[in-house]
Amino acid sequence: MTHLSSPETIEDIEIRLLLEALYVRYHYDFRDYAMASIKRRLRQARDQLGYPTLSALQESVLHEPAMLPRLLGYLTVQVSEMFRDPGYFRAIREKVVPHLKTYPSLKVWVAGCSAGEELYSLVILFREEGLESRTLFYATDINQDALRAAEAGIYDLDRIQLFTENHRKSGGKSSLSDYYSAAYGRASFDRTLRQQVVFSDHSLVTDAVFGEMHLISCRNVLIYFDRPLQDRAVGLFKESLTRKGFLGLGAKESLRFSQHAGSFHDFAREEKIYQRCAQ
Ligand SMILES: C[S@@+](CC[C@H](N)C(=O)[O-])C[C@H]1O[C@@H](n2cnc3c(N)ncnc32)[C@H](O)[C@@H]1O
Repeated sequence: MTHLSSPETIEDIEIRLLLEALYVRYHYDFRDYAMASIKRRLRQARDQLGYPTLSALQESVLHEPAMLPRLLGYLTVQVSEMFRDPGYFRAIREKVVPHLKTYPSLKVWVAGCSAGEELYSLVILFREEGLESRTLFYATDINQDALRAAEAGIYDLDRIQLFTENHRKSGGKSSLSDYYSAAYGRASFDRTLRQQVVFSDHSLVTDAVFGEMHLISCRNVLIYFDRPLQDRAVGLFKESLTRKGFLGLGAKESLRFSQHAGSFHDFAREEKIYQRCAQ
């Protein structure tokens, strides 16, 4: 009788156990993320942090809480830009904003806000459109370092040229330089852009909804989840959105295969903006 018949490789077993350990010990749940990407990232963490095996990395993170943020830095992808995919922000400005202008007060949730690039893009857009003062923005993420960076609103100056170009292409009505001051190679965004923003730790995997939103922008987050987890997150958005509220996803994301697709209709199909049905 053999005990070696499992089709799982040793590495697969190590990954399963490491993700389980992270969940049980710290309540970070990556168990239903898209596995190919998780595997790549864990291998990278193991090699760059200098562990011979994922089991050794697991032991370290279990016993040393200081390892957690370092590992989260590998497990969460922090790529972002201001006004990323300018067509998306142009559609928000030209198609969504006219609807939002009919409400006396607004709530906007930027889910998976990373270091704040998407959030500041929306706050600037809302200011340009005269909506900022009636809007409360919620910026959430599971990565504490990213949330701290979002609250600081400081970016390397060498990224600003791209942000400026994106802002212009998105139909920006002012100059991006109106919103930051530059010094020592960094651009520091105006603190008034944060006066209507609540930053908070929130997981689309383990947490519940916290308010009724008119617009949810969750771009380039679902792409890292497997299908059932995407359904869970979209279920949260559905629950959180007011009737006829808007949901914006990333360029490579879609509601097409979601179990909640029937609760939304395409609002700006190309830009992946959906509207919650009235019923
Ligand atoms: C690639 S970034 C996207 C940033 C921004 N939304 C954009 O499109 O430019 C993905 C973000 O999702 C966050 N994230 C990953 N899992 C999450 C979860 N379960 N709940 C909330 N945010 C999550 C990551 O920490 C990261 O900041």
